[in-house]
Amino acid sequence: MRKLEGRWALVTGSSRGIGQQIALGLARRGCNIIVHGREARNGRKTIELLAGCEVQTHLVAGDLATEPGIRAVIDGVNAHPGTLDILYNNAAISNRSTPLFEFPMEVWLQTFQVNLFAMIRLCNAFAPGMRERGYGRIINLTSGIADQPNLAPYSVSKAAVDKYSRDLACELKDANVLVNYLDPGWLKTDLGGPNAWEDVETVLPGALVPALLDDNGPTGRLYSAQDYKMLER
Ligand SMILES: NC(=O)c1ccc[n+]([C@@H]2O[C@H](COP(=O)([O-])OP(=O)(O)OC[C@H]3O[C@@H](n4cnc5c(N)ncnc54)[C@H](OP(=O)(O)O)[C@@H]3O)[C@@H](O)[C@H]2O)c1
Repeated sequence: MRKLEGRWALVTGSSRGIGQQIALGLARRGCNIIVHGREARNGRKTIELLAGCEVQTHLVAGDLATEPGIRAVIDGVNAHPGTLDILYNNAAISNRSTPLFEFPMEVWLQTFQVNLFAMIRLCNAFAPGMRERGYGRIINLTSGIADQPNLAPYSVSKAAVDKYSRDLACELKDANVLVNYLDPGWLKTDLGGPNAWEDVETVLPGALVPALLDDNGPTGRLYSAQDYKMLER
């Protein structure tokens, strides 16, 4: 059951919402967790929740919309006592509903910065070490959002995440660094809103599946967390 015993995972955006659930789910499988939020104080609640899981924890902070923030996350991870085995790229922002032709360019740029470019920076920082060590699991959060041009910067950034994940999987083929992307479903979180179909807890256990894959398992694939929601968390 504690298949990830001794491993270390960075879960970006694990201060609340889906990332917090993923951090808890991984920790229950024995995985040590690097919690991340924009500010350190945002991550403290998750650190408290993890206290019952008998794993080691480390806290990093940084705004993924800024270069110093991304640097702080990378440096914070490199300062922790282990090597990174699992990179769970979960943090993202959505948009205020806006007519498609009226989105300011700044909104497009900021959305892509947080949702895609920061993810690429983290993969650039940590995937080569995983390849050298012959073990890694990278999971990128995507979305099933469709036919909502009023949220186009968000949905287009997620389409780019899918393509990037497949390219990265190809780059790391045969290195036992498995790269997959996860659609969590529409969940009640700050981002998903109160009208979402599912409670945030239903992201488990499905979100763990791409982290628990056996060596040289599937890579470059889409996983849907809601396909597994009836199984034990
Ligand atoms: N909820 C849904 O229905 C749904 C559906 C499809 C996909 N997703 C995806 O699932 C992932 C998690 O979503 P969620 O619903 O859990 O969102 P959420 O409740 O809004 O939580 C967002 C998380 O990301 C962090 N974050 C936000 N902006 C950041 C920034 N600029 N720099 C660093 N960290 C930042 C937040 O940290 P702070 O606490 O420090 O702000 C928080 O931990 C996202 O990739 C989202 O696109 C969600």
